[in-house]
Amino acid sequence: MHHKGSPADVIPLQYHAQMLLDERRMGAFQDAIMRVVGPGMRVLELGAGTGVLAHFAAVAGAASVTAVERELSVYEAASRALAAHGDDVRVVHGDARSFTPSGPVDVVICEMLHVGLLRERQVEVIRAFRSSYDGPPPLYLPCATIQAVQPVSQNFTFYGYTVAAPLFQEPSVTQSRTVELARPDVFQSFFYGDELPSSCAGNVVFVVQTGGTLNAVRMITKNLLTEDPEPVEWLMNYLVVPLPEPTEVAAGDTVRIRFAYRPGDEIPDLMASLHAEVLSPATSG
Ligand SMILES: C[S@@+](CC[C@H](N)C(=O)[O-])C[C@H]1O[C@@H](n2cnc3c(N)ncnc32)[C@H](O)[C@@H]1O
Repeated sequence: MHHKGSPADVIPLQYHAQMLLDERRMGAFQDAIMRVVGPGMRVLELGAGTGVLAHFAAVAGAASVTAVERELSVYEAASRALAAHGDDVRVVHGDARSFTPSGPVDVVICEMLHVGLLRERQVEVIRAFRSSYDGPPPLYLPCATIQAVQPVSQNFTFYGYTVAAPLFQEPSVTQSRTVELARPDVFQSFFYGDELPSSCAGNVVFVVQTGGTLNAVRMITKNLLTEDPEPVEWLMNYLVVPLPEPTEVAAGDTVRIRFAYRPGDEIPDLMASLHAEVLSPATSG
C-alpha cells in the first residue's frame, strides 16, 4: 500500500478523506476536543494530517494551536485548508519525534493510531515528546489505549476460495463470518501520561464458551479520548489475524493465546509471534 522509498506508515492524501468520512472516529474526536479544549489553552497536535483536529481545537477557543505533520503533500493540504477556514494555527512541516514546543502546552492531541497499536508511531511519538518536553504535564488526547484479544473461528473462504489473510471488521456490523469462541479479554492498557510499555504483549488464558475451529484471534483496540468531564471512547475497527495452525476446541476447554510485538510493528510481526495452545480439553461425557 505504501509508496516505494517511503516509510511504511505514510498515509497518502486519499486515505485522509476516508478517515474524515469515518463518523465514529470524527464524532468522538470532535466531542472530546470540544469538552477538553477551552479558551486560553495552548494546544499541540502531533501528526496533523489534513488539520481537522487542529481546526476543532481552534474552534473550541484555544489561544494557540501548533500542528506538526511530516508528509509534505499532507502538510500543504492542511496549511491550505486551515488558512481557508481562517484558523489561527501554526502548521509545522517536520517529524513529530524531533519536535519540541518552545513553551508549555496544555493539551497534546495525537492520532497516529492503528488497531493493535500496529503500523503507526503513536507510542514512539508520545515517548519522544515526553522525553524532550520539560513543562507542566499536559493532557493527552487520547489519554489511553486499551487492548483486548479474543479467540474466534473465522470463515476465510471467499467465493469458494480459502485463504487465511488478516482482515478488518467494522465493530458496529454483525460479523456472520466470525464465531466468538470466548469473550474478549483486556491484555494491556497504555496511558499516555504515564510510562509507556515498550511491547504489546499478551499471554491470556480463555475458557471456551462456544466450541468450533479456533483458527484466528481478533484484536480489539479502544481509545479513551478523554475521561473528564465524562468518558469519550473510540473503538477502532477490529483486526482478525489467522493462527498458524487451526485447532478444534470444545466448550469448557482452556486455551492460552500468546503474542508479543513492538508498538508500530507490522501485522506480520504480530502473526509471527502468535501462538495458541489448548491447555486442558474439557472432559467429555
Ligand atoms: C492517522 S493520521 C491522522 C491525521 C489527523 N490528525 C486526523 O485525525 O485526521 C496520522 C498523521 O500523522 C502523520 N505522521 C505520522 N508519523 C509522523 C511523524 N513522525 N511526525 C509527524 N507526522 C507524522 C501522518 O503523515 C498522518 O498525516
